Amino acid sequence: MDKINKIAILTGGGDCPGLNAVIRAATRTAVLKYGVEVAGFINGYKGLYLGHTVKLNMDKISGILPMGGTIIYTSNKTNLFQFPFVEEGETVYRDVSDVGVQNLKNAGIDALIVIGGDGTLTSARDFYRKGVKVVGVPKTIDNDLAYTDVSFGFDTAVSVATEAMDRLHTTAASHHRIMCLEVMGRYAGWIALEAGIAGGADAILIPEIPYDIEKVAEAVIRRRHAGKDFSIIVVAEGAKPISGEMVVSKLVEDSPDPIRLGGIATQVANELEAMVGLETRATILGHLQRGGTPTSNDRILSTRYGKAAVDLVMEGKFGHMVTLRGNRLSSAPLEDVIGNLKNVDPQGDMVETAKSIGISFGD
Ligand code: F6P
Repeated sequence: MDKINKIAILTGGGDCPGLNAVIRAATRTAVLKYGVEVAGFINGYKGLYLGHTVKLNMDKISGILPMGGTIIYTSNKTNLFQFPFVEEGETVYRDVSDVGVQNLKNAGIDALIVIGGDGTLTSARDFYRKGVKVVGVPKTIDNDLAYTDVSFGFDTAVSVATEAMDRLHTTAASHHRIMCLEVMGRYAGWIALEAGIAGGADAILIPEIPYDIEKVAEAVIRRRHAGKDFSIIVVAEGAKPISGEMVVSKLVEDSPDPIRLGGIATQVANELEAMVGLETRATILGHLQRGGTPTSNDRILSTRYGKAAVDLVMEGKFGHMVTLRGNRLSSAPLEDVIGNLKNVDPQGDMVETAKSIGISFGD
């Protein structure tokens, strides 16, 4: 195997608590364990295209463990395999990935660690197919990446959503209201499910279990009859009624995945107010779930992932993503991970537990 002298790290897609902890652990492992140089590409794949790098050394990564965001910045708009150019007023897409490959060579980079979700790792897989020595790290608050039990950032998002629910509980109880909390997660209901259980939700609405609003209303009314005149409903941004669609809040045209979800909690709140006769309010938690300091669990997981990614590079196990199964670190081929999103199992233990303690899914 060719000797590895220099590794580069790239963070792509939406930011996520724990990115800096991965960068720190990967850099420390590369420098301290293997004596290898490290660089970071600035702004994700955009930096790879432009050849913008920054040196990552012990000094540069000092103090970043508890920091949210990413010190090397990110972009969820750049796909070098479909890069937009405006020509004669028209947007045309070209494959400029060769520029990225050349920039890796120019910078003397032997291997690339890509930290990202499905979109970012799809490009990582495509660069691997072109012969680049790539290793992936599963990043997403949505926790929807296959072959790993958990991606870093998820625990923090669940904690933020749980705290929001605790706060909504007291105001809901004081005003005898129904509070609908919309959480992120895109097409997967993991954040809603786990925050819903941790925060004592009365109903959890997720994309994997299309809901009947009548059933949700019944759950609220049952509570009223039991003397509880307030309710907390957690609504995943991708939740949808049985014969309805997800609510799209905007289209980001220059993004590889242009759909942005949002607004379903307001719809649910309005319908419940009319059906139950209690005042309702909707809260859209949004990017608060992604910002700020990672939980201790995410710091530990990110550190394990960052270290494991460098180990994979040094073992020559390219085209793989680091994974956690049970409490064991391992890896899976990017070819298997990509396009194979992990959804909540409506028949699984977590949903069954929630239902057993009386939480409604509106089904
Ligand atoms: O994938 C992470 C995520 O935060 C999703 O939960 C959400 O749907 C989306 O990104 C929001 O994207 P943006 O940051 O472009 O608004």
